[in-house]
Amino acid sequence: MNLDTYREILRLRALRSYESRPVSPAHVEQLIEAARWTGSSKNLQNWSFIVVEDPLQQEALAAAGDFTDPVRAAPLTIALVQEPAGYEFDTGRLAQNIMLAADALGLATCPITLHRDEVAAEVLGLPEGRRCRYAIAVGYPSESAAPRSFGGRKPVEELLHRNRYGS
Ligand SMILES: Cc1cc2nc3c(=O)[nH]c(=O)nc-3n(C[C@H](O)[C@H](O)[C@H](O)COP(=O)(O)O)c2cc1C
Repeated sequence: MNLDTYREILRLRALRSYESRPVSPAHVEQLIEAARWTGSSKNLQNWSFIVVEDPLQQEALAAAGDFTDPVRAAPLTIALVQEPAGYEFDTGRLAQNIMLAADALGLATCPITLHRDEVAAEVLGLPEGRRCRYAIAVGYPSESAAPRSFGGRKPVEELLHRNRYGS
């Protein structure tokens, strides 16, 4: 039994305010390792990661989405690339693994949608057939870092059905 993991899952929040210091290379390596070990459909691992630390690249990437201030605020962004025949479900798993690993290492993260993924592809220099719709902003949490409250979570009664929808 590992209750720490369970508690971490319940506690994990998107954080959007970071210290300006860079993420240590050892931590970056650990995050990529956590991503690399994510399970995928048929273990195809049709993904790749682009670690973006250049502030000009960060700014250009931020322009590809509508709510990307965390990218501008973070010292580092991990762009999640869906390779040909990759699934969005797998990208979601990647994102959650990176976020949980980051939390365990004392890092704050925020998932980012790149609504104009054609812009992201251009900025990142993606070859034909690759897509980057999501990224994770990463940094050490600033002292004032606090989750933005969108009202917690829906009550379980609204979400859970047994055997058939509505039951
Ligand atoms: C698929 C996905 C895309 C998201 N995109 C953004 C985004 O573009 N910008 C942002 O600030 N937060 C983004 N978020 C973070 C959500 O707003 C956040 O997880 C949600 O409001 C719940 O807040 P909490 O995780 O702090 O509890 C995204 C989350 C998910 C799962």
